[in-house]
Amino acid sequence: MSEVKKIAVISGDGIGPEVVAEALKVLKRTEELFGYSFETEHALFGGIAIDQKGTPLPQETLDICKNADAVLLGAVGGPQWDNNPKELRPETGLLAIRKELGLFSNLRPAVVFDCLKDASTLKPEVLEGTDLMVVRELTGGIYFGEKFRRQGDQGEEAVDTCVYNVTEVERIIRQGFEIAQKRRKKLASVDKANVLETSRLWREVANRLAPEYPDVELEHILVDNCAMQLLRRPSSFDVIVTENMFGDILSDEAAMLTGSIGMLSSASMGEGSYGLYEPVHGSAPDIAGQELANPIATILSLALMFRITFGYEDAASAIEEAVAEVLNAGHRTSDIAVDKSKAIGTSQMGDLILAAMKK
Ligand code: NAI
Ligand code: MG
Repeated sequence: MSEVKKIAVISGDGIGPEVVAEALKVLKRTEELFGYSFETEHALFGGIAIDQKGTPLPQETLDICKNADAVLLGAVGGPQWDNNPKELRPETGLLAIRKELGLFSNLRPAVVFDCLKDASTLKPEVLEGTDLMVVRELTGGIYFGEKFRRQGDQGEEAVDTCVYNVTEVERIIRQGFEIAQKRRKKLASVDKANVLETSRLWREVANRLAPEYPDVELEHILVDNCAMQLLRRPSSFDVIVTENMFGDILSDEAAMLTGSIGMLSSASMGEGSYGLYEPVHGSAPDIAGQELANPIATILSLALMFRITFGYEDAASAIEEAVAEVLNAGHRTSDIAVDKSKAIGTSQMGDLILAAMKK
């Protein structure tokens, strides 16, 4: 029997509890198939925590997360909390939990499932074989730099500053190299080194670290060119590592290669193997409680957890292969269905994936 791994489970709001429930069924199936054992502890977070505890991120929730090896999160938010003061909004909790857990990178895979090529707006032959990962710096750069207004010669001016220190750059680029080593060993480091000083530092660090990862092929690419190449030759990318704002934009662009938001998983990482795993989508209040949510993004987030935090590659692949098999067999939730009348529900999709899992 393997060591018991602790997972903090945050269902959250809207479709969060529905999609997390399906992922937990997959977790249980993984224990049966592979002999791994997990201990799950549920925690309140987001809107439901505001309603029940008066804060989006209760101390107890933070303790549960810090005490665990990894966190599985559904989604938070909804219109009923939109007009609350800032400290009583679910999104405030999201920023706080990332900061409290020291999560400085966001990993977003973009995988095009062959049978879903039609769901994208790009030509199927361009998408063929696309399987990439965007590694985005999450806690530095222009989003966190000093911001202010001032009076200039020609009227009011607004200033945003972009700051990166060498430690922040080094830890994220190392993560890019390490992830590439476990994949197809290609790292595209994205910057704007022709004009930005922070990008020049970025490129220097990437070049300095490269000899430590001789098996990884490093390519430098300017962000504007990367935006074009993602549409022209997406399948040629393996791992893309970049700073906060570039990563925000490029990861959304990469997401669109795959078709539906209901399919996209993500991981937020700090130092070491600890991570928070969640679907890219939000709480989808428009479809909550109707058995319409696609649970695949959350199930694939669990697969990412198995691979990255626990190193359970066998379980991760089993989940990914089961998802592909179910999709290949033509089963669709309504967000990815061409013929909506044939669409299946949330728990039906979860059950089919369970049934398809093999050792
Ligand atoms: P959303 O991602 O919740 O929904 C956008 C559209 O995609 C909706 O039409 C929704 O029905 C659909 N959709 C989303 N996930 C789906 C799934 N699994 N299966 C099928 N269809 C799906 O984004 P929206 O509407 O902008 O935000 C709703 C709430 O979620 C807001 O309160 C927002 O702040 C919050 N949010 C939370 C996030 C998080 O918890 N990390 C991330 C993004 C938004
Ligand atoms: Mg974005």
